[in-house]
Amino acid sequence: MHCKLIGIPLQDGASRLGCEMGPSALRTAGLADALVELGHEVSDLGNLSAPEALAFEHPNPVLRKPGLISAWTRLIAETAYQVSADGMPIFMGGDHALSAGSVSGIARRAQELGKPLFVLWLDAHTDFHTLETTTSGNLHGVPVAYFTGRPGFAPHFPELAAPVDPANVCMIGIRSVDAAERASLRQTQVTVHDMRAIDEYGVAVLLRSFLQKVADAGGMLHVSLDVDFLDPAIGPAVGTTVPGGATFREAHLVMEMLHDSGLVTSLDLVELNPFLDERGRTANMLVDLTASLMGRTVMDRPTRSY
Ligand code: ARG
Ligand code: MN
Ligand code: MN
Repeated sequence: MHCKLIGIPLQDGASRLGCEMGPSALRTAGLADALVELGHEVSDLGNLSAPEALAFEHPNPVLRKPGLISAWTRLIAETAYQVSADGMPIFMGGDHALSAGSVSGIARRAQELGKPLFVLWLDAHTDFHTLETTTSGNLHGVPVAYFTGRPGFAPHFPELAAPVDPANVCMIGIRSVDAAERASLRQTQVTVHDMRAIDEYGVAVLLRSFLQKVADAGGMLHVSLDVDFLDPAIGPAVGTTVPGGATFREAHLVMEMLHDSGLVTSLDLVELNPFLDERGRTANMLVDLTASLMGRTVMDRPTRSY
């Protein structure tokens, strides 16, 4: 596989500064070498440069830097569309606002290829606010509503070439949802697996049924991994820690199953805030998880089933 690393030093979607250093930390933690070791070809395309903010007024006074995030969204979407012509793009964030661009750009590519795009959202949060409903004003809380074409973004954000069908979005790890997001999600067919679902059924059961759906549809699969999907004990380098997250073993199992499925076509690594890390261990964790997603295993898998 040809892995293409794209650094996106976007940090203004989050309330705490620091995600801008995410791409550097992932490089320092050895992301490229880990992929090369697995036999992949790797191109590091460098970092995108911050665009010029758009100037507009929005009636919601709490929005933080909407003109800048809108400009990033356009730039990232165009980049994602271009780089997804071949190979496997890996978007190194940067905060989760970047997924408004990465997913919408990949969706345009999928539409051109005549394939449905599916999104696996690994996160403590649903990120399903619109520009109108967010009360924090932090725009890393809106990307899923944006790329699924919910009203509440026009004309401030770029028009979508190809909205993602909400029925093709599966969220796992959820444990912090605002009232407006919950109300809005109820009107959609987004699949939301909260931590209780993981506890009751196990993450493998939940993921397997989603992967089957993607395979049956002949779809492309974009994976968006927010650091806060992980329990803060194993992923402290994030501004929005929520207790009770995925364990080391659950997270690796997800990645291994994704690899075995052969369905993943693009990946976001987001919300890493190296300023909050402890001797790089969250960055290392993300590199190890990406390696699992790209084929690293402990043993060859037996062909028998247990
Ligand atoms: N729902 C909260 C908000 O809108 C938290 C969003 C956290 N999102 C994230 N990508 N970390 O402010
Ligand atoms: Mn998120
Ligand atoms: Mn989150």
